[in-house]
Amino acid sequence: MSMPPGLPGKLRPGSRVLLRTDLNVPIESGRITADERIRASLPTICRLQQARCRVLVMSHLGRPREGQYDAAASLKPVAAALAERLGEPVGFRRDWIDGVKSRPGSVTLLENVRFLEGETGNSDALGRRMAALCDLYVMDAFGSAHRAHASTHAVARHAPRACAGPLLRRELRMLQRALENPVRPLVAIVGGAKVSTKIEVLERLAEVADELIVGGGIANTFMAAAGLNIGDSLHEPKQLALARRLMAPSSKRRATVPLPQDVVCEIPGSHEPVIREADEVRQGERIMDVGPKTRKHYGRLVKNARTVIWNGPLGVFEDPRFAAGTEALGRAIAASRAFSIAGGGDTLAAVGSFRVKSKMSYLSTGGGAFLEYAAGRTLPAVEILNTVTS
Ligand code: 3PG
Repeated sequence: MSMPPGLPGKLRPGSRVLLRTDLNVPIESGRITADERIRASLPTICRLQQARCRVLVMSHLGRPREGQYDAAASLKPVAAALAERLGEPVGFRRDWIDGVKSRPGSVTLLENVRFLEGETGNSDALGRRMAALCDLYVMDAFGSAHRAHASTHAVARHAPRACAGPLLRRELRMLQRALENPVRPLVAIVGGAKVSTKIEVLERLAEVADELIVGGGIANTFMAAAGLNIGDSLHEPKQLALARRLMAPSSKRRATVPLPQDVVCEIPGSHEPVIREADEVRQGERIMDVGPKTRKHYGRLVKNARTVIWNGPLGVFEDPRFAAGTEALGRAIAASRAFSIAGGGDTLAAVGSFRVKSKMSYLSTGGGAFLEYAAGRTLPAVEILNTVTS
């Protein structure tokens, strides 16, 4: 995918800039529980503000029912958080699609775009109305770049000028560096509950990576496919054939898929976990994490790597009894000299809870977009920017 054009060299003071960001942050009882996306949006907002543009910030939050207001999905708490981190006042407009008055150098957050009818259906008419609000449309929401919605796609077709923002371009550069011409060995780690939600990414990474480490329910499915007894562990019987195919030698696939040598199991009726060799898991037991030998083995693979891409935990890390595998992996990546990129909500939560955030080379703000890019798919919101006037 080619790199879309970035911000114009000269930003006209007073010009109206419609900035699409991804401020879709988790909010519990009115409190923002992870603010990475807000922080990541700040440099672009500051740059536009310093150029004395009239900055209109547009984002979605959650998945409200389209066409109606829903207080639980309001961006209002995000406006306050944005103002606090920016150290500047941030205006907030609940009704904005028919026009917003603002001053040069001001920042206004627009209410959740998903309250508007036609947003997720990529309505051309809605895109046109959004475009009428601006002289320049800047798409900076990497986390939403896999969505062809009115605020990420149709608007770009109608805006007088449209370009990619610095955050979106940086995310693309980092992912390109990891996947398109990586310094090898490239170790890819894909964890999580289900193979079925990550089929394409597993297939692509099996082709481009040197080692493909699988974790969580995905690893259990691979173990079952290799003929190991996994007891009552979470897995997907329908994906066994795919797992076998990804482990079989092939000229198309480059990666080896190392399976856990030992695992940490939960035993029915007991709070105490047990460590089992991979071929000694018993009926009724559930694999919840990788064991100490596997931790060492994966640690060595990561130590030798020059590039690491990580999405998804190795075990149920939210429970301290089953956190050691994911923690050891996070620490191994942090200590390695590899260029490392991590993405996805669970992965960022793990990196945060083990305090290795600052040691990763790059933390992506994308969840679904990160996976789609890693799967080799085109991101529609990026593609459209390559066809319009910047
Ligand atoms: C995300 O959280 O991955 C993005 O904000 C996209 O959200 P969506 O899956 O609701 O489109």
